[in-house]
Amino acid sequence: MAHNIAALGGDGIGPEVVREGLKVLAAVAETAGFEYQVEEYPYGTDHYLETGVILPDGMMDTFRKDFEAILLGAIGDPRVEVGLIERGIIGAIRWDLDLYVNLRPIKLYHERFCPLKDKTPADVDMVFVRENTEDAYAGMHGFVHKGSPLEVSTQTMVYTREGVERVIRYAFEIAKDRERKQITMIDKANAVRAQDLWTRTFAEVGEEYPDIKQDHAYVDAACMWMVKNPEWFDVAVTTNLFGDIITDLGAMVQGGMGIAASGNIRPGEVSMFESIHGSAPKYKDQNKANPIATIAAVQMMLDHLGEKDGARMLDTALMNLLSGDRIKSMSAGAHGTDELGDMVVKEVHRLGE
Ligand code: IPM
Ligand code: MN
Repeated sequence: MAHNIAALGGDGIGPEVVREGLKVLAAVAETAGFEYQVEEYPYGTDHYLETGVILPDGMMDTFRKDFEAILLGAIGDPRVEVGLIERGIIGAIRWDLDLYVNLRPIKLYHERFCPLKDKTPADVDMVFVRENTEDAYAGMHGFVHKGSPLEVSTQTMVYTREGVERVIRYAFEIAKDRERKQITMIDKANAVRAQDLWTRTFAEVGEEYPDIKQDHAYVDAACMWMVKNPEWFDVAVTTNLFGDIITDLGAMVQGGMGIAASGNIRPGEVSMFESIHGSAPKYKDQNKANPIATIAAVQMMLDHLGEKDGARMLDTALMNLLSGDRIKSMSAGAHGTDELGDMVVKEVHRLGE
């Protein structure tokens, strides 16, 4: 049966990088031999400014009923209130579809892309599992006496036993399938005592996985280790906000925002795949944006769709391309957006020969 995929280009460079992602998807489908259909949606800031609609009523039901995956470009535009469209599209999709895992692999394809001295691909190969529905992102916040000297502003870090347990369990399952079988929990339970729930849940779930090496780091120290000894990490599981922050650091360690991808996952149900980078409005429509991160998100999407051969093929294609010397730099403008997409397509076709 053909896979049904929804594509949302979104803002800034989003539509361009999604176009390249879909181009690569077509090449992989042809080579690996599977069928799919893509429905493209126009939502984003332009659409909102024209119509007043961020996502139409019923859109979540459509995603849930008609699609297996959503490929998202990027969201963010300085013409509207900070965070409005991000919350209304990325946030809404994560929360309303309960995509509780934010999976962010951090893998270095070639040492010349790593800003850390003497670190090689053998040192940078980890998977971050970021909780994706709770914490400061749960939406419990407010202002009292707004604008006055007496103003009070709060935002609550919300953790539920169920929310913590399911994401920790997911991370253990990933660790189980990896060679090193090691998991690190990253939190700040020494200062944020609410995270004691994470400490206890990690210990309890961990008892079910005696073969997995279990480790802990406070988030401040984890940032230090990520730079000093990235080879210490295999699978790491952490809260929503810390996961947001530390995976930008991870993105730089693996070669920059041009390469870092993520999956917003609810196992077995519709899930959303995107790059970690933003919409970079200054590069919009200039054919300068690097689409590799979105292409890597397509690779994660294939895995979710159960197209394991296609996913492996695309991973190998990216590895072959990035480990060679054809890519001058991962930075915007170093290559054309379409040029990079074409290079990946060529590698995919080569694997099919
Ligand atoms: C990310 C982004 C989002 C987040 C923004 C756009 C709301 O930074 O996916 O990492 O904070 O989760
Ligand atoms: Mn982020």
